[in-house]
Amino acid sequence: MIFPVSIIGSPVLRKTAKDIDKDYKDLSKFIDDMFETMYDSDGVGLAAPQVGKSIRLVVIDATTLEEDDPGLKDLKKVMINAHMIERSGEFVNMEEGCLSIPGIREDVKREDKIRIEYYDENFEFHDEYFEGISARIIQHEYDHLDGVLFTDKISALRKRILKGKLQAISKGKFDAHYKVRLAKA
Ligand code: NI
Repeated sequence: MIFPVSIIGSPVLRKTAKDIDKDYKDLSKFIDDMFETMYDSDGVGLAAPQVGKSIRLVVIDATTLEEDDPGLKDLKKVMINAHMIERSGEFVNMEEGCLSIPGIREDVKREDKIRIEYYDENFEFHDEYFEGISARIIQHEYDHLDGVLFTDKISALRKRILKGKLQAISKGKFDAHYKVRLAKA
């Protein structure tokens, strides 16, 4: 099932998401639906709050970006109860976008290395290091679990320039080829 993607302005995008246990109802179906929704919208990552569920679960499949960074070859993951242990390394600036903010792409500075704990789809525990674009993609999705959007991290000047545009997007003024859900007016 393809979920509608919640758009900036939706309160669920600003909540801190909660851990779940392995008996979470219909978990494997939910994970399948998350992947289906992500592929349908041509995203490389999707966090549960973006489909209206405030739980600490993200899906990522960046394997199609292997040409940009060979490290992405294996970056297909489900991360449940994700918790960032460490962010380190240099700050790198790179353009990002987000399915919840259609049509906007902006430079975001992020640390180059991370260490993150999570459980996979089989509820096996992992404690892993990532770097480069993998670290960036994971941080972007992880931020959704803490109610943070990439437009929170852009320069003060760009924020001011974009303010009106983001408000318009929250009211539905954008084009997207996937199903979306706006905040109730
Ligand atoms: Ni996003």
